[in-house]
Amino acid sequence: MTEPCHADTFNRISRLRDEIREHNYRYYILDDPVVSDAEYDRLMHELIELEERYPDAVTPDSPTQRVGVSPSSLFDSVEHTVPMLSLQNAMDADELREFDARCKRVLADEETDIEYMVEPKLDGLGVELVYRDGCLVVGSTRGNGYQGEDVTANLKTIRSIPLVLRRDALPPPARLEVRGEVFMNVADFKKLNRELEEKDEKVFANPRNASAGSLRQKDPRVTAGRPLDICLYSVSVCEGYTFSYQIEVLKTLTKWGLKVNSLYRRCIGIEAALDYCRELEDRREELPYEADGAVVKVNELALRRELGEVSRSPRWATAYKFASPEEITRIETIIASVGRTGAVTPVAILEPVKIGGVMVSRATLHNQDEVDRKDVRVGDWVLVRRAGDVIPEVVKVMAERRTGDLEPYLLPDTCPVCGSRVFQPEGEVKSRCTGLACPAQLKRSIGHFASKRAMDIEGLGTKLVEQLIESGLVKDVADLYDLTAEQLTELDRMAEKSAGNIIEQISKRKNQSPDRLLFGLGVRMVGEHTASVLIRHFRSFDALVAASEEELTGVLEVGPKVAASVNLFFSQEENIKVLERLKEAGVTMRLAGLSAAEGVARLAGKSFVFTGALETWNRHEAKRLIESLGGRVSGSVSSKTDYVVAGESPGSKLKKANELGVTVISEEELRQLLELK
Ligand code: IVH
Repeated sequence: MTEPCHADTFNRISRLRDEIREHNYRYYILDDPVVSDAEYDRLMHELIELEERYPDAVTPDSPTQRVGVSPSSLFDSVEHTVPMLSLQNAMDADELREFDARCKRVLADEETDIEYMVEPKLDGLGVELVYRDGCLVVGSTRGNGYQGEDVTANLKTIRSIPLVLRRDALPPPARLEVRGEVFMNVADFKKLNRELEEKDEKVFANPRNASAGSLRQKDPRVTAGRPLDICLYSVSVCEGYTFSYQIEVLKTLTKWGLKVNSLYRRCIGIEAALDYCRELEDRREELPYEADGAVVKVNELALRRELGEVSRSPRWATAYKFASPEEITRIETIIASVGRTGAVTPVAILEPVKIGGVMVSRATLHNQDEVDRKDVRVGDWVLVRRAGDVIPEVVKVMAERRTGDLEPYLLPDTCPVCGSRVFQPEGEVKSRCTGLACPAQLKRSIGHFASKRAMDIEGLGTKLVEQLIESGLVKDVADLYDLTAEQLTELDRMAEKSAGNIIEQISKRKNQSPDRLLFGLGVRMVGEHTASVLIRHFRSFDALVAASEEELTGVLEVGPKVAASVNLFFSQEENIKVLERLKEAGVTMRLAGLSAAEGVARLAGKSFVFTGALETWNRHEAKRLIESLGGRVSGSVSSKTDYVVAGESPGSKLKKANELGVTVISEEELRQLLELK
């Protein structure tokens, strides 16, 4: 007899299902989960338990009744010949012993110790590879277990996946279907996130998301640039071979050149398996990848067949889950931390708490949007997750524990390090400090200033820049010009001769063209090209600094975003001080030749007429350019016209110009006249 299901319980079951469905969608389809794995497992666990207690409440559409969710429509779908099941979890030692007891019961042999294979459970993305006559033909994701996504082209970019199996030790089978986990090492994940951050692209929350996001790219070239890796762990089809043990499978895969995780171990009896699970858990921190548990599998395949499977999981394997890398603690305060790219990140200062054996007292809140989305406030109780050596993060607020009136958190509008304005560029998630002399950004900004495409100061490499900053000799780019050879010689491992050379280099490069200087200052959104456009237009830093946002937008090729960024940069007092010191040091701050005023005077009153098609400009652009230098453009030729610019297939205006004796110039000559060449 089963218990009748109370209305409250029924509602709870229904809410759990909705919640899990939503998490499935966010995880599998959007690659953007909002809860931690442990949190998800708890919900699933609760639902499974309730459904076991009240079987009448089970519905065919419950998330427990299938392996996962439907594959997304981004890729073609691939049918798995043998379904890719999922694993039941053992949350602690007792649950693992229960798993063993059940195996023994089903096998009707409670006496004999079962031989298990224990392997780390990599936290990535399950995939299947199909090899025909030793050649990789199809690769797919697990999807809903029955149908996955065809990601062959993307999988082929992973170096550790052989396109052709080795045949030196053993001939490959006519058909092989092999399964494994695509994952990313933690160090590679962090590097990838740094790169994404520098490009102002969305970063990944953890290595597993990074693996999923990288594998499910529409363009395989993007996947190719991502540091993905794979470990294979099982064979579902292998024509012409019969295996008797899991260990034999792993060893054979290795012979074919397929990568398997080397940390597998054969354990006799559940206690030995448990010992090894615990050992792996202890060693978790030193592993280069994230493992969220250990998989305990019956080694003998004949026994596996006897054990079979129930609903969505095999009875012959279970995942021993490592202690959750999450804890609940309280936010004491929130600070704004400035990174080396100027990104300003809200960081929660926590009541210290031990997570996975390590004391944690701060956790990232990523950015203002995330703070708003999670509604994190000082004083809140929060769930904090720490995975491997990834920076701990606030997963969510424990809303039901909030007491009193807590203020919503807003990032400050001035930089806590240098006091410059902090702003969030349109369309970006990160807020940024705009200060040129901000110590937090110094290493990167000095390095950029000295780089080849900017001031091109030879010998001023990363190491030296670091030493200069650490010794306090350089606090902004202008300090470079105050350096003396004696000061440099005092630095570690700096010979007198090279010190002299560097000082000479710095000085020699003072007369670089001012567009290199502008580029070197690292104004956001001002790349090499924009820097040169701006300098050609304004011709001097004085004129550029004085320009209003409207004047900037008026410059050909300068859009409102660039104009706003330039304007903001030059409105910072700290930045102006640096410019003044650069000028005093004798750095070239204006284009040689005409001054800005003279440049304007030169075209002032001059009138231009266009005829024929221009090759590199449209007329509108050319008109704006001429007008910005004080000239006029009119539609018809008269004796007052100064220049007729003749493009491809000129019309009657050219004839008229010749009759009136007006100077006719080519597009090329116009460029020279405007000093664009
Ligand atoms: S064996 C019947 N071994 O964990 C499933 N799975 O929920 C047998 N995983 O989707 C899976 N490392 O992607 C197995 N050494 C390992 C694993 C592993 C990671 C993943 C796999 C699967 C999920 C199980």
